[in-house]
Amino acid sequence: MKTFIENLPKAELHLHIEGSFEPELMFKIAKRNKIEIPYNSVEEIEEAYKFNCLQDFLDIYYQGAGVLITEQDFYDLTYSYLEKCATQNVRHTEIMFDPQTHTERGISFKTVINGISKACDDAKEKLGVSSLLIMSYLRHLSEEDAFKTLEQSIPYKDKIKAVGLDSSEKGNPPSKFKNVYEASIKVGYIPLAHAGEEGPAEYVWEAIDILDIKRIDHGNNSLQDKNLVNELVKRDIALTVCPLSNTALQVVDNLKNHPLKKMLDLGLKVTVNSDDPAYFGGQVNKNYIEIQKALDLSKFEIYTLAKNSFQYSLLENSKKQQYLNELELYYTNNK
Ligand code: HPA
Ligand code: ZN
Repeated sequence: MKTFIENLPKAELHLHIEGSFEPELMFKIAKRNKIEIPYNSVEEIEEAYKFNCLQDFLDIYYQGAGVLITEQDFYDLTYSYLEKCATQNVRHTEIMFDPQTHTERGISFKTVINGISKACDDAKEKLGVSSLLIMSYLRHLSEEDAFKTLEQSIPYKDKIKAVGLDSSEKGNPPSKFKNVYEASIKVGYIPLAHAGEEGPAEYVWEAIDILDIKRIDHGNNSLQDKNLVNELVKRDIALTVCPLSNTALQVVDNLKNHPLKKMLDLGLKVTVNSDDPAYFGGQVNKNYIEIQKALDLSKFEIYTLAKNSFQYSLLENSKKQQYLNELELYYTNNK
């Protein structure tokens, strides 16, 4: 089963590039930028990465992102993640980035987007991994601030496929961003959002009804509301589920109690993703492997998860079909 998962062609649809920042690279970039970080070793970092909730993690995540200064830093961060995709048979990835985490520190939007998108272009050519970018608004900041980010993105809109909504969920409902989402859709961005990770099912309703979102990041708490589950199935809205993130942030107490199988059984379109792999103990393949073990998922269920990852990607149909054909062939030969 492990080899079946490792060689399985798949897409990753929920990944924060700032959350892929591995300690070794963080030390290297901090040194080159002459920035002090509060850790002296990888062991000290691992000790610090113990979280009781989303906010615990976010505080450390924003601190880590603070060492990224130059276009080269953003390039190295992104290319390093894409190399890991190549070794895991991740054929396509949809990368979230948080411009405000950097523009708030005086780093220009241009520096961020150019570094990330050059790495994506190179990875497509050299590693054969395709990618799309999701510009995420920080929900703990104001809608006005998100509007500024939207404006800054316009010269680069051809490099951006979608908008997302992340950071502290409780107390920051999707409805807070109604106007900026309407404006983002007008620019041509596809609306996506985190919802129902720590927030209630009501936030998922707001995301689909008020922001018109096409895919939910996490969405665990949707299960609290039967009507919502039915609606997600009816509207064919997928969930990008992140098992190791859920246990790291205590959204789920134990992988054995993870709702992923229940979600599949209810007819929800589920995908498996790593979220912030450098912080949550594993890349996407580890997420597949651990959740398969914990819930005793069948090869067919694993194949379904990978199929959903291509089906509910933001790729154009012909490219989607190409990956789906590749997956089909793999499954036929390895089931
Ligand atoms: N949830 C909300 N915001 C985030 C996350 C997450 O899991 N990761 C990075 N920003
Ligand atoms: Zn996330």
